[in-house]
Amino acid sequence: MTDNKNDNSVPLSRSLTSEVPEHVAIIMDGNGRWAERKGKPRIAGHKAGVETVREIIRSCVEKGIQVLTLFAFSSENWRRPQKEVSLLMSLFLAALQREVKKLHKNGVQLRIVGDTTAFDEKIQAQIEKSEALTRDNDTLVLNIAANYGGQWDITQSVKKLAHEVEAGKLAADDVSADLIRQNLSMSDLPDPDLFIRTGGEQRISNFLIWQLAYTELYFTDILWPDFDRQAFEAALESFAGRQRRFGHTGEQIEKMKNA
Ligand code: IPE
Ligand code: IPE
Ligand code: MG
Repeated sequence: MTDNKNDNSVPLSRSLTSEVPEHVAIIMDGNGRWAERKGKPRIAGHKAGVETVREIIRSCVEKGIQVLTLFAFSSENWRRPQKEVSLLMSLFLAALQREVKKLHKNGVQLRIVGDTTAFDEKIQAQIEKSEALTRDNDTLVLNIAANYGGQWDITQSVKKLAHEVEAGKLAADDVSADLIRQNLSMSDLPDPDLFIRTGGEQRISNFLIWQLAYTELYFTDILWPDFDRQAFEAALESFAGRQRRFGHTGEQIEKMKNA
């Protein structure tokens, strides 16, 4: 092969040589334990977590980060006690209703990613309204992953391609990583440069499986409600000190940086 690239390789990040990530993705974990440690009901932790979301959005805007993706509710979280699920749904709806105008004023484009058809009609209507209002904003794209699962995302992409094959519009041999990528949620956005998980667990929990292929991973024991601006800055500093290689050698990357 003369070309260094093939159809199935992971695209290079646009911020390959940049110290500030273009896209940050976060698993906001530890709300329940935060509340339990304070002798409060778990929902108090989720409420406190919404405050952290506000602060981190503000930090992203200040730092010129362009995309922030937050894992709010996974496709597995339906397994929680029914009472916690329904409180989480009410909190989600209330936060959307309360925050969307402020987000809009600050130039934030809000998108909900995941299988939203599972939510009740009121939530679906609010999602539609919020997305429509903020559609043309470009200061920060804020993706809220809700009823999201990485396996769901890959499955829905592959299913679209399978339909094209079935309809005779696509040859099975032409199915490529690029085509799968193009049909994923957020396919118009760069993959996350930096992944953060709070709360001490070191796992992906079916978040962005495909899109994290070459993302820098950062884990912290800090519980999400305690994750403040300073903690976020520590994660960004860790990112800035890393060399991303995407299969290249370190020497090649240094040359790109100096070019
Ligand atoms: C993350 O916090 C929020 C959601 C999953 C909705 P948790 O609720 O998972 O908090 P812990 O892990 O039980 O502490
Ligand atoms: C992942 O957290 C999902 C969200 C933060 C929304 P969980 O707390 O549900 O993850 P697991 O199940 O412990 O891995
Ligand atoms: Mg958890």
